[in-house]
Amino acid sequence: MSNVDLAKLIKDNVRSLKPYSIENIRSEVKLHANESPFPPSKELYDLFAASLKNFPLNRYPDPDSKNLKESIAKRLDTKTDHLVIGNGSDEIILLLLQVFCMEEDTIIIPDPTFAMYAIISQSLGIKTKNIPLDSNWDFKASLILESAEKNKSRLIFLSYPNNPTGNCFSETEVRKVIEQFEGIVVVDEAYYDFSKKSFISEIKNHNNLVVLRSFSKIGLAAMRVGFGIADPLIIQEVNKVRLPYNSNMLSQSFAEHLINNFQVVQRQIDSILNERSRLIDELEKINSITVFPTDSNFILFRTERSADELFTHLIYNGILVRNLSSHPKLHNCLRVTVGTTNENDRFISEVKAYAMGDE
Ligand SMILES: Cc1ncc(COP(=O)(O)O)c(C=O)c1O
Repeated sequence: MSNVDLAKLIKDNVRSLKPYSIENIRSEVKLHANESPFPPSKELYDLFAASLKNFPLNRYPDPDSKNLKESIAKRLDTKTDHLVIGNGSDEIILLLLQVFCMEEDTIIIPDPTFAMYAIISQSLGIKTKNIPLDSNWDFKASLILESAEKNKSRLIFLSYPNNPTGNCFSETEVRKVIEQFEGIVVVDEAYYDFSKKSFISEIKNHNNLVVLRSFSKIGLAAMRVGFGIADPLIIQEVNKVRLPYNSNMLSQSFAEHLINNFQVVQRQIDSILNERSRLIDELEKINSITVFPTDSNFILFRTERSADELFTHLIYNGILVRNLSSHPKLHNCLRVTVGTTNENDRFISEVKAYAMGDE
């Protein structure tokens, strides 16, 4: 029997981490995680099922995700040596921090932004400097660049569009950061399919730019596939710290089918974009709600009354959204993912029912 003082063994930076809380409340309508509301189409399932028969499940997966990279390279008009596949784009965030940052380094992130940049950094003993976003959830490049210089930063993360605010930052300001920063700029385009705005074409001019993409928002969240696009030298170094079989065979194969049959997914994306406009229109009709502009598959909104109460009301009615109210800049804010027409109808009708109590 052992009774080792485990707490004493755990690194301070890990012990002080707050666990990343994912709302795991069972609910019929899940509008909290920015996933696609649509499962992959039958067409994609059939293709995948057919390929499943030939899977050598007793063998390790392709360590280089060669076929998937070839499919992505073709679609994005790039070369496979510019690509790295991750177990979700989360993994690439981790790998980039491992490659470029040492313990006690400071990275720069806007605030609010995607929580994992800070969480993964802290787990590695890397500090984060938050640059507060302005009232349009945007920033001035000079503020980011000054802070990066002062903190001798090697890495800046920009979520584009930004989660949880939903908007793309000013293109000019992002461009200034890429052009003027003497370190790595990671432009995280996890929501690219809903914004259609990208910096990929800048990679050939800027060897310090890394773009991240994800399959999680377009129907494959369960498969955990994301990828990075960058100068081959960066990819080469990332590959040194990447675990050899980080991407499994099923995920590689499903993602490959999805990329090669993108028209099927595009129909789902189009439907999400239509529903997004409808949701915005409906939410804007409610006086006590302020809707923030979005380029993503989710919408951030602020309620005049307590967002906690609205969140609870929605939960009681089987609808789960993301409650962001505890963030100082997101007081009384909730984030809703665009769902199917039915899901959105249910959400809107419950928000209206709740708001009627106010008016
Ligand atoms: C901005 C941003 N980047 C990355 C991710 C992680 O995506 P993945 O599922 O590919 O790890 C998310 C997930 O919500 C996100 O919002």
